Amino acid sequence: MSNYPSISQAIFLWQESLSSITETAPEQNQIEYIYHTTGVADSAYKIAQKCNLNPYKAYVLGLLHDYGKIQNEKVTGKAHFIVGYNKMMEVGFSDVAKICLSHSFPIKDFLFSDYISYNIEDLTAAKTILSTQDYDDYDRLIQLCDMFFEGMYKVSYETRIEGICKRYNLKEEHVRSIKKGAIINKEYFDNLCGCNIYDLLNIRY
Ligand SMILES: [Fe+2]
Repeated sequence: MSNYPSISQAIFLWQESLSSITETAPEQNQIEYIYHTTGVADSAYKIAQKCNLNPYKAYVLGLLHDYGKIQNEKVTGKAHFIVGYNKMMEVGFSDVAKICLSHSFPIKDFLFSDYISYNIEDLTAAKTILSTQDYDDYDRLIQLCDMFFEGMYKVSYETRIEGICKRYNLKEEHVRSIKKGAIINKEYFDNLCGCNIYDLLNIRY
């Protein structure tokens, strides 16, 4: 069994997450979830094609990276990266499980103080699991593409970080790991693709 789903299996899982969001969240959240996840998938596909990664794998990882938003973490208190990780391990897609976790932590050895909106238990679990894993180009790719979609807009990572700060009521000093990761990953894929990723994805900068 492959460690990641086929396109049709991925769409089935994505629809499952979307129908749960449809039942529990306002319409705006559903629209943003659709726009964000399909946008990350599409961007990951384009970058993967340009730098000789597997574009289909990149697409399904992008589509499912936020599966854990099947529940509202502000209501349950349970971090989406843990919920997504557990579900994907349960169905046998360990590559997706890793992405569900790694996309939230561009710097693997992150500081808890950079993630004050999450509980210590979930952060400890994330750190423990990630300490046994190495990041590969797919982890870096989804981390980067996740930075380009804010609400219903495709944006630069700088704008996305401003949005994260606003949404979680954070100061920029609390998203240092995310910002540092975005800078490193953007430069990494600019070099790998031999172009500015913003031009490839039609992002204004
Ligand atoms: Fe995301």
